[in-house]
Amino acid sequence: MPSNRRVLLLPGDGIGPECVAQVTRVLDWMGAEGLAGFDIEEDLVGGAAIDAHGVPLADATLDKAMAADAVLLGAVGGPKWDGLPFEIKPERGLLKLRKEMELFANLRPALCFEALVSASTLKPEIVQGLDIMIVRELTGGIYFGEPRGIETLPDGSRRGVNTQTYTTGEIHRVARVAFELAAKRDRRVCSVEKANVMESGVLWREEVQKLHDANYADIALSHMYADNCAMQLVRDPKQFDVIVTDNLFGDLLSDAAAMLTGSLGMLPSASLGAADAEGNRKALYEPVHGSAPDIAGQDKANPLACLLSLAMMLRYSFDDARGADLVEGAVARVLDRGLRTADIMQDGMTQVSTGAMGNAVLEELGSRTR
Ligand code: IPM
Ligand code: MG
Repeated sequence: MPSNRRVLLLPGDGIGPECVAQVTRVLDWMGAEGLAGFDIEEDLVGGAAIDAHGVPLADATLDKAMAADAVLLGAVGGPKWDGLPFEIKPERGLLKLRKEMELFANLRPALCFEALVSASTLKPEIVQGLDIMIVRELTGGIYFGEPRGIETLPDGSRRGVNTQTYTTGEIHRVARVAFELAAKRDRRVCSVEKANVMESGVLWREEVQKLHDANYADIALSHMYADNCAMQLVRDPKQFDVIVTDNLFGDLLSDAAAMLTGSLGMLPSASLGAADAEGNRKALYEPVHGSAPDIAGQDKANPLACLLSLAMMLRYSFDDARGADLVEGAVARVLDRGLRTADIMQDGMTQVSTGAMGNAVLEELGSRTR
């Protein structure tokens, strides 16, 4: 059995815990089958951490995250904590993890499962076979730029400020990830910014082009303005292979891309840091969906994005393509069997709970290894 992999689970808020519970079942199953050994720890983040410690990410939790080989996070946030001061809102816990762990590259695949082609709001021919990868810069840009804040002007009115900043280094390191992913895919990268209105966009475009010409000339590089990219994503998403973009545009475009696949409930993501001398990267995996407080605790949530995040963890943190394929294959077959959680329910299919979806994935996993 491979040596133990240190995994920190941060279920968080809303539907996070019930989705992460299905991941725990799969990890336990992998351990019991002798496929992989995991040292699993669990801790609080977001609103759950605020309730327990008064802060959305305790220092001790951050220390555990830094020491882990991989972190899997469920979701953060909910109406209960909406009124809190900005600095201790649940979302700050997630942003702090990203920033402190220096997870600058956020990989958000948008892959349309065959069984869900008709669940998309777009026509089947537009999304069938869709497989794109959005690489979102995650630790810079307007999310973290200074100055920021809300100030009161002499006349008593107020002014809100955020700052978009990018340095050459920040652009190069995320673009490198995109080019390297493209090299294993269809060898095409589309770099997205708004160089027509933003200087940071001009720099982004120039630096991505320079890096390409110097190191990745065998990859096809194109550039696109972010507004056009939003339009192209719903018009003809299959034109894209890898998209690389900044933090804010990546946030928006990845939600749009998510809907192409039928449901936000299906999309995993990986946030990766720089490789150390041994080639290991700090990494956090999370479903793209949020905490969905309206259905939390009702056993209605779709756990598949969380399970697919586990597959990404196996692939990117543990170089375990076999394990990742097993989980992804089990998810695809459960969908082929017609099982659907409410968010992807369609006529003629069988609606199941979160737990029942987990059961079905475990059954499928078992059937492949027996
Ligand atoms: C995401 C989310 C986060 C973001 C929130 C929860 C802070 O929307 O991961 O896309 O804006 O990055
Ligand atoms: Mg988002």
